[in-house]
Amino acid sequence: MVALLLLTTLLMISSSVTAFNTIGYANAQYSILYNQYRDLSFQSYPFMGYPLQRDWISLPILHSFTNGFFSGIFWNLLEINATTDILKMATDLMLPLAPVANITDTHDVGFVIMSSFGHAYRLLKIPEYLQIILTTASSLSTRYSPIVRCTRSWDSKEGFLVIIDNMMNLELLFEASNQTNNQTWYNMAWQHANRTMYEHFRTDNSTYHVVEYNETGGNVLRKYTAQGYADWSTWSRGQAWAVHGFTIAYRYTKYQPFLDKAIGAANYFLSHLPSSTDLIPYWDFDASHNSTIPYQPRDTSAAAI
Ligand SMILES: *[C@@H]1O[C@H](CO)[C@@H](O)[C@H](O)[C@H]1NC(C)=O
Ligand SMILES: *[C@@H]1O[C@H](CO)[C@@H](O)[C@H](O)[C@H]1NC(C)=O
Ligand SMILES: *[C@@H]1O[C@H](CO)[C@@H](O)[C@H](O)[C@H]1NC(C)=O
Ligand SMILES: *[C@@H]1O[C@H](CO)[C@@H](O)[C@H](O)[C@H]1NC(C)=O
Ligand SMILES: *[C@@H]1O[C@H](CO)[C@@H](O)[C@H](O)[C@H]1NC(C)=O
Ligand SMILES: *[C@@H]1O[C@H](CO)[C@@H](O)[C@H](O)[C@H]1NC(C)=O
Ligand SMILES: *[C@@H]1O[C@H](CO)[C@@H](O)[C@H](O)[C@H]1NC(C)=O
Ligand SMILES: *[C@@H]1O[C@H](CO)[C@@H](O)[C@H](O)[C@H]1NC(C)=O
Repeated sequence: MVALLLLTTLLMISSSVTAFNTIGYANAQYSILYNQYRDLSFQSYPFMGYPLQRDWISLPILHSFTNGFFSGIFWNLLEINATTDILKMATDLMLPLAPVANITDTHDVGFVIMSSFGHAYRLLKIPEYLQIILTTASSLSTRYSPIVRCTRSWDSKEGFLVIIDNMMNLELLFEASNQTNNQTWYNMAWQHANRTMYEHFRTDNSTYHVVEYNETGGNVLRKYTAQGYADWSTWSRGQAWAVHGFTIAYRYTKYQPFLDKAIGAANYFLSHLPSSTDLIPYWDFDASHNSTIPYQPRDTSAAAI
């Protein structure tokens, strides 16, 4: 009897939890955000927000790796709840990004285009959307060096810089290759993932953020951080990019070492969380070494990835 009551109570609790309409809530909240940025004529998109602050920090439409995520959210919602409203919002937020297809001075075009046109093409198979993906792949391929065997991440006078985030842009090349059978794009993405697997990881499967290569000789010059706590530390979002990026690389290649590396990176991530019940890492897994200020922010993006 007690057990039955307990079970009934548990069922009531769990049904009241599932009764909360998460998708409906996301739909409502993101629709508000859509209206705000529509009123700004889609000139900029939300980039990041700070706790306790009301407004988003925005960046111009062609100038942030995050700008595909806004429409990407609506393409994801559309898969669960296919309404004309959601389709309109996804499309309105996506179309202004088309000029990104011709940008050659950053590697971030994969982030932007696969989160927007990539999802749209997968769901709707509209040929014009595929064309945007192929143009973007062609743009990104201009950043590939057969000497370094990577695509260049950041333009710099220093050297040939490759950041772990760049793993996220390989899906564009793999997908473009899959759609056209252009083996060049496949080889570029494969080589980039392979070299990154050797150079960006430490023996404990944590990652360096930046590897600087010698553009003419292809050798490694320096390994360091740009967004983490220290050169030797592990920036949690970078580690998350590695988990996601090597999983995608395995999906397209079925090359077992890529999957093993994704698992190795994921194990490092999971075993360096604040506790087994708190899944949001510090912004850098080694942030606790910073004693300047006891409070260290968490990175919900790293957790979500
Ligand atoms: C789907 O969208 C409609 C219209 O916006 C909304 O009323 C409904 O709650 C959504 N369904 C789910 C499962 O979220
Ligand atoms: C990219 O540039 C080409 C050549 O200038 C142009 O024809 C094409 O419309 C551009 N694509 C996009 C999506 O802006
Ligand atoms: C394949 O991609 C490469 C790199 O973008 C390009 O130079 C080449 O023309 C493409 N081949 C075909 C058949 O489109
Ligand atoms: C993969 O990268 C490693 C390290 O750079 C290199 O030794 C190896 O030849 C590469 N594999 C292929 C098939 O290119
Ligand atoms: C870079 O590569 C070139 C060509 O192999 C070589 O001459 C040069 O010494 C290398 N520079 C460094 C700093 O490794
Ligand atoms: C230490 O943490 C504070 C607060 O997060 C930050 O402002 C500072 O840059 C950190 N120092 C280093 C070396 O990362
Ligand atoms: C590549 O394309 C083929 C044929 O369209 C498809 O069956 C396959 O799932 C694709 N591979 C990946 C990894 O997406
Ligand atoms: C790191 O990952 C590899 C798979 O790439 C695994 O074989 C190895 O045991 C992992 N190392 C540690 C220290 O967990």
